[in-house]
Amino acid sequence: MSIPYYETSAILSEYLFFHYGKSSDYLPFSEGPHHALEFPRRIVERGLAGVYTGAEGDSMPLAARALDLGCAVGRSSFELSRFCQEVIGIDYSAAFVQAAQVIQKEKKITLPVVSEVGKTKEVTVEIPLGVFPERVQFYQGDAMNLSTDYGMFDILLAGNLIDRLPDPKIFLQGIGSFIKQGGILILTSPYTWMESFTPREKWLTLEGENFEALQKILTADYEFQKREEMPMLIREHHRKYQWTVSEMTVWRKK
Ligand SMILES: C[S@@+](CC[C@H](N)C(=O)[O-])C[C@H]1O[C@@H](n2cnc3c(N)ncnc32)[C@H](O)[C@@H]1O
Repeated sequence: MSIPYYETSAILSEYLFFHYGKSSDYLPFSEGPHHALEFPRRIVERGLAGVYTGAEGDSMPLAARALDLGCAVGRSSFELSRFCQEVIGIDYSAAFVQAAQVIQKEKKITLPVVSEVGKTKEVTVEIPLGVFPERVQFYQGDAMNLSTDYGMFDILLAGNLIDRLPDPKIFLQGIGSFIKQGGILILTSPYTWMESFTPREKWLTLEGENFEALQKILTADYEFQKREEMPMLIREHHRKYQWTVSEMTVWRKK
């Protein structure tokens, strides 16, 4: 049996470098999509900006709880710790969660990154300055089947998660039971529907364009706040990158 995609060592390294790599190491060219770097930090900052008190330029922690679903190796969870007293990061991949816990404890981690195809080099990446790792807890878990023991949250982030789920509509219809009244739901997605993750009959595009589908599903329970382009850059090797533009939408629970 093959190893699930997000459990493989190559994808683990790719995500660790994507989340924590220094911009000057990650994209060491003067030309290039520098605006697309630091995606996990930007989705938190831009997601909260203007819709969440204290989020813009205010590093004072708020008495809030945040849930980062599909947290991968944890960078957005640490970014949320700048704004919240408690952050829970959940990912289905045991390898990702374990790596997030290592970086939380050790503050750094060494990983092999592909330099040229067929060659790797060791790179040490560090937890960003100014975050509060002691406020964060990481768990392996399934976003489609969350325990109510986690309680209710002021902020729920699902970064590039929905197009990796077996049934995004069911997820979106149910996730509000974890968000407090007035709480914020931040979704990002490039809507890259793939049958290996989501059966074709569950793709949101069956409901219209992706954003229209989100509106149809969420409007009864949420007030739409904003929609922004959120570019990101996945590095394949020293000379090859994948530039993607996720769409961020932000919703306030009624
Ligand atoms: C495209 S990655 C995005 C990761 C991260 N949020 C980011 O923006 O870099 C999707 C993540 O969702 C996780 N995932 C997929 N299905 C999941 C599920 N049912 N429950 C929790 N996490 C899941 C994967 O393991 C992976 O880490």
